[in-house]
Amino acid sequence: MQFSRFDAAALDHFVATAHGGHGAWTILTPDDFTRAIAEISGWQGYAPTPLHSLPALAQTLSLGEILYKHEGPRFGIGSFKALGAAYAGLRVLQTELSKRLGRPIWLDTISSGSLAHDASTVTLCSATDGNHGRSLAWGCQRFGAACKIYIHAEVSEGRAQIIRDFGADVIRVAGNYDASVARARADADANGWFMVADTSWPGYRQPPLDVMAGYGLMADEACRAMTTAPTHVILQGGVGGLAAAVAAYLRQYWGDSAPRVVVVEPTLAPCLMASARANTATSVNIASETIMAGLSCGEPSELAWDILADEGRDYLTIPDSIIGPTMRLLARPLGHDPRIEGGESGVAGLAALIAAARQPAHRTALNLGPTSRILVIGSEGITDPAIYADIMEQTD
Ligand SMILES: Cc1ncc(COP(=O)(O)O)c(C=O)c1O
Repeated sequence: MQFSRFDAAALDHFVATAHGGHGAWTILTPDDFTRAIAEISGWQGYAPTPLHSLPALAQTLSLGEILYKHEGPRFGIGSFKALGAAYAGLRVLQTELSKRLGRPIWLDTISSGSLAHDASTVTLCSATDGNHGRSLAWGCQRFGAACKIYIHAEVSEGRAQIIRDFGADVIRVAGNYDASVARARADADANGWFMVADTSWPGYRQPPLDVMAGYGLMADEACRAMTTAPTHVILQGGVGGLAAAVAAYLRQYWGDSAPRVVVVEPTLAPCLMASARANTATSVNIASETIMAGLSCGEPSELAWDILADEGRDYLTIPDSIIGPTMRLLARPLGHDPRIEGGESGVAGLAALIAAARQPAHRTALNLGPTSRILVIGSEGITDPAIYADIMEQTD
């Protein structure tokens, strides 16, 4: 009974043939990762997040090992996104304050709060479906900068309020995520604000690159907690920044033994799969919103795509129907597996793994078996308590 939703789930699988270039080294360089890791791991409150093994679930699925990197506790703000926007915002402040003050400013001078007065004259802004904006607002509060966050019509009021609680102005825009990005860009241009986006476009590269460099810390912690490379890594994608950053870091860390990279998206927002099929960054129309709010993106980040074009092997889409069951399975685990509170977007990779491992054709196509050791990124914990409580009350 517990797995009936997974067995019935319609998965789409595309295997990319064009990969194997140098994007993992040249777009995000080892230096980019090293600088981000050194800075963020020095922030007050930093602690590595846990890498949980789920042996009972792995045994039930006849897999060797499932490793779940749980980002819920990250800096107390609920998701891996704490690593990206706050760091990229800090780098924007570094550039701008160095210019305004006429001398080079170190990152830790700003992150220690000692330039908060100067930082308060700079406004950072972004569009978000929740987690990225929360991270930027949190960073701005720490560093002293002003913050404007644009959300689209479907972002829950709970998520909006948490961003306000970090001191940001929240502006709600009619339409979807891509509409909120367009409005944030226009307002930034009109007002002299600085966009800190997690997605790139022609002529706009540095902040999204820094966002991805910040995510490298999560991959670094996971690698250091393992003695050998996993066989697979399953990475959920919105604009592709998380997947690209982790894939690049794993390639740099493990070289030729880096794991097979499986990118997972909601059936309702498959822009990375569309890009893989077309072999170029490709947008899709979002006709309706998925429950995986953080993954509801129609336009891939071009920078992220350029890395995934080299590193992404498999692209899977999953229906919303398996998200609740996966969250409940983590909350009420099998055997002695740890109890984990995972959010809707955060569990997408694990949901895909369970469904694929149970469906013979997908299991074979992904080469999943008793010797597989799979790393999944549990990219968020409870980021909207009301939605989480509601999902916990439902039955499979
Ligand atoms: C919890 C969570 N997981 C994964 C993602 C996907 O990240 P990206 O948009 O970089 O692909 C997001 C994006 O907002 C997210 O909030």
